[in-house]
Amino acid sequence: MKLLITGSKGQLGNELLTILKNGRAEIGAIHEAYKGAEVIGVDVDELDITDTAAVYAMVQKERPDVILNCAAMTNVDGCETMLETAMKVNAIGPRNLAAAATAVGAKLIHVSTDYVFAGNGTSPYCEWEPCAPNTVYGKSKRLGEEYVLAQCPRSFVVRTAWLYGYVGHNFVKTMRKLGAERERLTVVCDQRGNPTSANDLAYHMLKLVLTDEYGVYHCTNEGECSWYDFACRIMEKSGLSCEVAPCTTAEYPSKTPRPAYSSLQNLSLACTVGNEMRPWEEALDMYLENLGGMDQ
Ligand SMILES: NC(=O)c1ccc[n+]([C@@H]2O[C@H](COP(=O)([O-])OP(=O)(O)OC[C@H]3O[C@@H](n4cnc5c(N)ncnc54)[C@H](OP(=O)(O)O)[C@@H]3O)[C@@H](O)[C@H]2O)c1
Repeated sequence: MKLLITGSKGQLGNELLTILKNGRAEIGAIHEAYKGAEVIGVDVDELDITDTAAVYAMVQKERPDVILNCAAMTNVDGCETMLETAMKVNAIGPRNLAAAATAVGAKLIHVSTDYVFAGNGTSPYCEWEPCAPNTVYGKSKRLGEEYVLAQCPRSFVVRTAWLYGYVGHNFVKTMRKLGAERERLTVVCDQRGNPTSANDLAYHMLKLVLTDEYGVYHCTNEGECSWYDFACRIMEKSGLSCEVAPCTTAEYPSKTPRPAYSSLQNLSLACTVGNEMRPWEEALDMYLENLGGMDQ
């Protein structure tokens, strides 16, 4: 089996590479089918997914069985001002990969976001819920989903949220840094979602691509919380005494509107390969333990 991972230096791409190398994720071993698999990891310096000709050339040359697209423009505020880049990376790039995958008969698994929803829900969004993104990031990611589904019949679109992995930047690392520097922090308590381990997500992606269960999936850790709850647990489990105070979005406005409620339900996973996503607290605790080990 040959796998092509795009955006391989990002949080999720790195997790996929690590799991494939070790033959196991934090929640368990991956399938035997991956033993001896050829894994090609490329990031923007080796393959810019917005370069249509380059994408075709690499896919034609390598003829992978599966393409795992982890490349994206994830800077939500940046997308608001850099419309062209957001469109290219989050919509045209996935379109290029979808068309190239179809040309060689490869499967494509593409990763998307809770931002495709309006974010004003009151109960977790299932995969069948209508999309209504209200940020450039969300709109560009939604168009990317549509292109992938329309142009690659053997595709999976997997939406996730509040992601953290071992490389790169994320909320957990930011909180730990600030928590070590400051005595008090304020964190918004009126935005709810699902903190998600990139390792758990990568494990489920590798389960999905061995099947022909094409379509749209939600894949987040189980349970939901506010950013405030998330920050409190990070401080507690990191042994940091920094006080976390709750505040509202109105008190702490961001440049780009953030969803007030964008919790996802892993319904398609439960109906197909099985939903093994851990409760978010359990996944976070293990991540913090491992991060602690890396600091030493
Ligand atoms: N992070 C989250 O909280 C979150 C939440 C929901 C959904 N998601 C989705 O989950 C997926 C993985 O996110 P992540 O957190 O792993 O993202 P990430 O850490 O930002 O990684 C994305 C990678 O893609 C690379 N990239 C950017 N433009 C590219 C291009 N034109 N061609 C090839 N590679 C390019 C980036 O390189 P540079 O760093 O050099 O730009 C980076 O290495 C994305 O689809 C994202 O939309 C993420």
